[in-house]
Amino acid sequence: MALNVLVICGSLRKGSYNAALARALPALAPEGMHLTDAPRVDTMPHYNYDDQAATGFPSSVTAFADAIRAADGVIIVSPEYNWTIPGTLKNAIDWVSRMKEQPFKDKPVALQSASGALLGGSRMQYHLRMVMQSIDAQIFGKPEVIVNMAASKFADGKLTDQGAIDLIKQQLAAFGKFIDRVKV
Ligand SMILES: Cc1cc2nc3c(=O)[nH]c(=O)nc-3n(C[C@H](O)[C@H](O)[C@H](O)COP(=O)(O)O)c2cc1C
Repeated sequence: MALNVLVICGSLRKGSYNAALARALPALAPEGMHLTDAPRVDTMPHYNYDDQAATGFPSSVTAFADAIRAADGVIIVSPEYNWTIPGTLKNAIDWVSRMKEQPFKDKPVALQSASGALLGGSRMQYHLRMVMQSIDAQIFGKPEVIVNMAASKFADGKLTDQGAIDLIKQQLAAFGKFIDRVKV
């Protein structure tokens, strides 16, 4: 199995738990799964149809879409903001969703979240699952990776919680099989 998987991070901050979670993935991936970081989601301007109509898709949006197209699968690792998807991440998804060759169409997508709170970003995942469905992605089911109470599960920017590490290994292995099964 040789699979290229793109990792999109929904947090912008330096000390981000979700960025730390994304950094932990390559060491936990099954053999043959190669992980690459997507361009940051804040490289894209606010979506405005007038701008799209006047000047087309900005190069930052094209670069983000090309990275998604080139990947066999995508993992979105994101915090939850006010019970839902952070605006900057949603803005990036909105941009590429307007493209003729819509990059998420038929793309296998898995979700992960980390949060300092009890529910671990699960409500964000539920909403993102619906958004992915709406743009025809092949959304991966279980196991879900929800890293709650993050302050106790990371140290010095590294994921240290064995339960979370084991779960991520299981998810990545299952996601690899899912990609092989559903890839168009
Ligand atoms: C605007 C905003 C809204 C938030 N809303 C939620 C929320 O609804 N649920 C939650 O679990 N955490 C929420 N948080 C707390 C985040 O989980 C916490 O800041 C987390 O560290 C963000 O992820 P990051 O470390 O990857 O940046 C919110 C944080 C911000 C800045």
